Amino acid sequence: MSDKILLSAENISKSFNHIKALQKVTIKAFEGKITAVIGDNGSGKSTFIKILSGSLEPDEGIIKIGTNSYHRLSVAQAINAGIRTVYQDLSLDNFKNSVENIFLGDEITRCGFLDRKAMRVEAAALLEEIKVRIPDLSEPVRNLSGGQRQGLAIARALRRPAKLLLLDEPTAAMGIQESAKTMEMLGMLKRKGIAQLIVSHNMEQVFDIADHIYVMRSGEVLVDTAVSDTSPEELRELILRREDERIF
Ligand SMILES: Nc1ncnc2c1ncn2[C@@H]1O[C@H](COP(=O)(O)OP(=O)(O)OP(=O)(O)O)[C@@H](O)[C@H]1O
Ligand SMILES: [Mg+2]
Repeated sequence: MSDKILLSAENISKSFNHIKALQKVTIKAFEGKITAVIGDNGSGKSTFIKILSGSLEPDEGIIKIGTNSYHRLSVAQAINAGIRTVYQDLSLDNFKNSVENIFLGDEITRCGFLDRKAMRVEAAALLEEIKVRIPDLSEPVRNLSGGQRQGLAIARALRRPAKLLLLDEPTAAMGIQESAKTMEMLGMLKRKGIAQLIVSHNMEQVFDIADHIYVMRSGEVLVDTAVSDTSPEELRELILRREDERIF
């Protein structure tokens, strides 16, 4: 597989008043590969994802996608570049059903009216493709399991062709079986050629799936390593060593 850079975010900084959420963060995503960003609560992972999806403006830094460079990437530019985002909160409307959620704000119409049949058929096909089983698509999504909700948010993100899928904590609050299924789904998307940038707390999990790992701590990248160059034990040691280097 190629190691072609799909997206490169360089020296990204972002502060919220006195909180330095990101300090000169450089992270790259490669074509067809899975890049993981791991780190503790508050280390800046979601802030970074929001900057890549265009929903937050960085104070400094540059985002390069193909031949284009952006100081401030808009949501429309990110979407045009093939970036799709599944946010940490999934942004589902609990009172709407699965079909309505997949097409939220981007409904199919026919002669000025909602084409519910076309949307139901397309939603079922999308979910089938990523092997997410939701027996009743007309049920409000608040009744779905964590895995089904995550699957639905991914189906929505993949409605239009994607080059890079950004996933913020895709298995948070899931049981072991559901997280394994979600990881399997992400592996399948990788085999289809969809590159991913996955934010996670879980080191073991990312070792199973990722090609490259960035470790963040207090808004900075502490470690940047290919998975093939390390192991979970070695990475833990490296993190401790780098933390010591920062303190002294
Ligand atoms: N809109 C905001 N206004 C003020 N502070 C913010 C805002 N968003 C994030 N922060 C702060 O920036 C820091 C990084 O937050 P962020 O949500 O990016 O962390 P995270 O790594 O995603 O954490 P978690 O693992 O808990 O999801 C935190 O200190 C957080 O409180
Ligand atoms: Mg977060």
